[in-house]
Amino acid sequence: MALKIAISGKGGTGKTTVAAILASLYARDGCRVLAVDADPASSLPAALGVPEEVRKRIVPLSQMLDIIEERTGARPGESYGNLFSLNPRVDDLVRRYAIRGGDCIDVLVLGTIKAPGSGCFCPESSLLKGLLRHLVMEDGSLLILDMEAGLEHLGRSTLRSVDVMVVVIEPGQRSVETGVRIASMAKDMGVREVCAILNKVSSSHHRDELHRQLETAGLPYKGVIPLDLRLVEADLAGLRPIDCGAEQVFQEIARLREHIDKIT
Ligand SMILES: Nc1ncnc2c1ncn2[C@@H]1O[C@H](COP(=O)(O)OP(=O)(O)OP(=O)(O)O)[C@@H](O)[C@H]1O
Ligand SMILES: [Mg+2]
Repeated sequence: MALKIAISGKGGTGKTTVAAILASLYARDGCRVLAVDADPASSLPAALGVPEEVRKRIVPLSQMLDIIEERTGARPGESYGNLFSLNPRVDDLVRRYAIRGGDCIDVLVLGTIKAPGSGCFCPESSLLKGLLRHLVMEDGSLLILDMEAGLEHLGRSTLRSVDVMVVVIEPGQRSVETGVRIASMAKDMGVREVCAILNKVSSSHHRDELHRQLETAGLPYKGVIPLDLRLVEADLAGLRPIDCGAEQVFQEIARLREHIDKIT
């Protein structure tokens, strides 16, 4: 079957790092992986090894005015009332606009999806959400979605199409609070499986404290990734996290993968 996995969590907790490593683990086992960057501050292409000269030329789908108009019947920024398609055709967009990262991973950069509450019920968001909902994937393929912290902008019907939501949590009250809030919203919105992964854990005290807090909140976690400065070094050097040599980091993300494979 095909699977949609969303990675969320508070800013800076390691969402992009986890998404990129998980994508490579699957791709190296022969899965066809589409990595979707749904964070307006796009950094997934770099984490997947798309070269800088290619990255510089990436236009997020939300800024492709002609294609948005072609598919929804309205041009972003023009007055359109409700007269545009909420179910635009999306099936060929990956083939046309995805770029190739390392490990033959396809990467698609969405750009900003605006929340309806922000006063924007706009064609570009309609196209992006339609893409997430209706993307028909072949058997054995995988979509990994690197998200910004909130879920509000995606809406219920888009979230219902997500099979697994992974919330990345680092030691710290704000990260736990944000993660637990995201997890509970995801469940309310109909995401089938919601779990956490702990990241940047540098002591058993930190691990035990996170364990206690997540147990209280009823949020299970499926891996404990150590704080490893090789990830920072790799980031500084413009290398992919999967190339940083931190085996224990990869092992913990492989544990998350085992869990995902079990439930699907
Ligand atoms: N286990 C770890 N050990 C050490 N550093 C880490 C670890 N995980 C991530 N980092 C570093 O933390 C920083 C933030 O990671 P990352 O960009 O993956 O987070 P993010 O949640 O995607 O951030 P944003 O909210 O800005 O998109 C990066 O410099 C990354 O290399
Ligand atoms: Mg990120």
